[in-house]
Amino acid sequence: MTRIHDPRADRWRFLVTTNRGLEPIAQSELRDLGASDLSTLYPGMIECAGPEALIPRLHARGRTVHRLLLEVARSECSTLAEITALIDELDWPRYLGAEQSVAVRAQRRGDQPFGSPDVESAVGQAILDNYRATERTRPPVDLDDPDLIVRVLVREQRVIVTIDTTGQRSLHRRRYRVAEHEAPIRPTMAAAMYRLAECQPGDRVVDPMCGCGTIPIEAAATTLDWPPEIESDLAFGAFQFLDTDGVDLDRSRRSTEDLSLDIHGSDIDAQAVADARENTAHAGLGDAIAFETADLRGHSLDADIVLTDMPFGIRTGGDIHSLYREFADRLADADCRRAVVHTARDDLLGLEPTKRLEMRRGRLETVLLVIE
Ligand SMILES: C[S@@+](CC[C@H](N)C(=O)[O-])C[C@H]1O[C@@H](n2cnc3c(N)ncnc32)[C@H](O)[C@@H]1O
Repeated sequence: MTRIHDPRADRWRFLVTTNRGLEPIAQSELRDLGASDLSTLYPGMIECAGPEALIPRLHARGRTVHRLLLEVARSECSTLAEITALIDELDWPRYLGAEQSVAVRAQRRGDQPFGSPDVESAVGQAILDNYRATERTRPPVDLDDPDLIVRVLVREQRVIVTIDTTGQRSLHRRRYRVAEHEAPIRPTMAAAMYRLAECQPGDRVVDPMCGCGTIPIEAAATTLDWPPEIESDLAFGAFQFLDTDGVDLDRSRRSTEDLSLDIHGSDIDAQAVADARENTAHAGLGDAIAFETADLRGHSLDADIVLTDMPFGIRTGGDIHSLYREFADRLADADCRRAVVHTARDDLLGLEPTKRLEMRRGRLETVLLVIE
């Protein structure tokens, strides 16, 4: 069955990308932002419905998501000719203004007799032909910095045509992270850990292996309800089919004096702590987070909430088995309400989680554990 979506309808269909394994957490954030009919289409891809206002709201406040794609058509197709016919059912001059450039990106999974580059060139040509048929001009193609990115998702027979409202730069690439250390966690993953922790005002939140500070920074910025980005160029700002004048991209920020959490980060590596301080300054958080250089093995854990991303191997002294054992002992001794731990070696921790989410970091299989 073919579905074509009218962008002037009251309720729009969206696809939202996030980290594999984080779909339930991203769904709960999307629900808070006003999305409905949420489900996971496949790992890392959520579908939902929502009003047009979800577009600015998600870009101003969403911290666990990467891109918001507006679905414009969906159908079952088994050949490139069928995909081209689907593209031609849409009214492309409505989406694309005169002089606006376009690029097509395809993602294909399945055993079709064509590849992603074939989809990209067939869809690109079909858009230009459709445009020329009514406007007598053709929009410029710009593969590096287009005004409109059309993303075509092909999974077996199912083809979904979307317009990327986010643009070139995924929302997980936060600009505050100017200094990166060893194996930094994705900020969207750190934000998801914060959501799982369910912090309460007044909580002492500690990351004892903070690296370049991503988890403490996401915790502080999320508590303050800060936008993930202040300066980014979001694609939807230039869309002629949206009433962008009426779009309220509320990027206001509360003062760090309102921070209701006592947030601490430490790491054995002094350079990592220097990086964390630098990133915190770039995030505009001043001295809202207390950082120190410390070996977690020499200290008891004083925290209501522990949020941490454990090393997968050890560069700086000691062996990984003893580090995991010491961390587990300190956690068991601490008067701590909840810990959310990201690791690739939960076999070494020996703690019984109340929640276990499987995910990936590159090719490595990892887990997020909630321990109470
Ligand atoms: C996976 S990295 C954390 C990355 C961090 N989440 C970020 O975004 O940058 C693990 C960190 O644990 C630190 N670490 C290793 N052994 C430690 C120890 N005994 N005490 C404290 N930190 C330790 C490493 O220096 C490294 O920065």
